[in-house]
Amino acid sequence: MPSTVDQPLVGRLKEIEGISAALFGERPGVVMLKGEAGVGKTTLARACQSLARERGLRVLMGHCYDTAPPAAFLPLIQMLSQAGQAGSEFVRKWTLDEAGGQKLGAAADTRPGAADPRTTLFALVGELLDEIAAAEKLLLIVEDLQWADPDSILLLNHLLDAHGDKISLLSTQRSDHRPTRSLATLLGRLEDKGLVINLSPLTKEESATLLRRELGPLRESEMEPLVDFSAGSPLLIVELAAHLRASGLLEGHAAAEALSLRRIPGRIAQVIDARLDDLPPPTLFALEAASVVGIEFDLSLLSSAAETDQGNVEDAVAGAVDEGLIELLEGNDSSRYAFRHPVFRERLLRSLPCTKRAASKVGSARPRWQPVWRQPSVPREYSPSTRLLAFGSWRAGALPEMR
Ligand SMILES: Nc1ncnc2c1ncn2[C@@H]1O[C@H](COP(=O)(O)OP(=O)(O)OP(=O)(O)O)[C@@H](O)[C@H]1O
Ligand SMILES: [Mg+2]
Repeated sequence: MPSTVDQPLVGRLKEIEGISAALFGERPGVVMLKGEAGVGKTTLARACQSLARERGLRVLMGHCYDTAPPAAFLPLIQMLSQAGQAGSEFVRKWTLDEAGGQKLGAAADTRPGAADPRTTLFALVGELLDEIAAAEKLLLIVEDLQWADPDSILLLNHLLDAHGDKISLLSTQRSDHRPTRSLATLLGRLEDKGLVINLSPLTKEESATLLRRELGPLRESEMEPLVDFSAGSPLLIVELAAHLRASGLLEGHAAAEALSLRRIPGRIAQVIDARLDDLPPPTLFALEAASVVGIEFDLSLLSSAAETDQGNVEDAVAGAVDEGLIELLEGNDSSRYAFRHPVFRERLLRSLPCTKRAASKVGSARPRWQPVWRQPSVPREYSPSTRLLAFGSWRAGALPEMR
């Protein structure tokens, strides 16, 4: 499958110039990338990550995810896990090792009148990041701020206030989300302190370049309707191209004809639906379940939920890997996958109307899903699996009142 991964960016030269000036100078800087879903924020942020590394900066990248409830400090855990041994040890002590948590003792002290445990944590994180920044210039990249959990928002405020003179920050954020009050305050402060880039759709020339990259040479008469149709959305271009390749539409018809026959779906959502519709039912079922877990998911959890062998689930998801909808995550664990783009997951999740309500009724789902609860790898309070359990129960009809 042709893919834009690791290929040079189309366009965005002006933006890269601005970001380089803001982040790679003598003093640390702040940049916020805003734009609609699929316009290319992550792609540009990753290009900046590579550029920053080429310039000798140390880059730590963390992501916020659309989960309910949001996982506290997840972007911080991700960033610290990339910060060498000191960072990994910090995360291990903080999240796992109660005995080793002496230094973080206050974090466990929730008695009335005790200091807010987060204060200690923030101070220690600040110290650790300052230490890194003293050795190498440090850039933090935080992706998808619109989904930031309240604790991460507080931490970012603290880093801006107390460590902004040592650490650079690049964040991405969807422009069509209404922020909570605390997020709006943070965004306002980021805007005041640095450079805000509203990422525009690609120009017609850039759209044509990307289309050619994805589909090979096209006649002008084929190109024009596709460029108009995509409205400059790189996500739509890439997805439309994948759909055209898979369906063979371009071979049978000229592009304009295909469009006029209305055989090409009309919006991003429809383009993605068309790709999902082509999946065999077990693959679609596995992806639906995965969408409830999160952007990243583990096959053992899916196989427990579906009460089937992990091998069956592996077969089911293989089709989605071939289609470029999900990818195997790097690392020792060969059963962890991630959606290749958040919109795939969002689309699947939205097609499950009862998921969110089912999650609140997880208590009644528990007896049926005992095997999953007993798995040591699935902590009781792990909210994604909680939601998966509820989802499984809902599919199995164990929660009929919510249909
Ligand atoms: N400048 C570009 N050149 C080439 N391909 C691009 C460019 N920008 C985006 N793409 C392609 O478009 C797709 C969507 O881009 P990306 O994931 O960066 O969007 P996003 O703004 O981060 O979306 P979201 O808000 O959903 O996170 C990607 O698959 C990427 O390969
Ligand atoms: Mg993104």
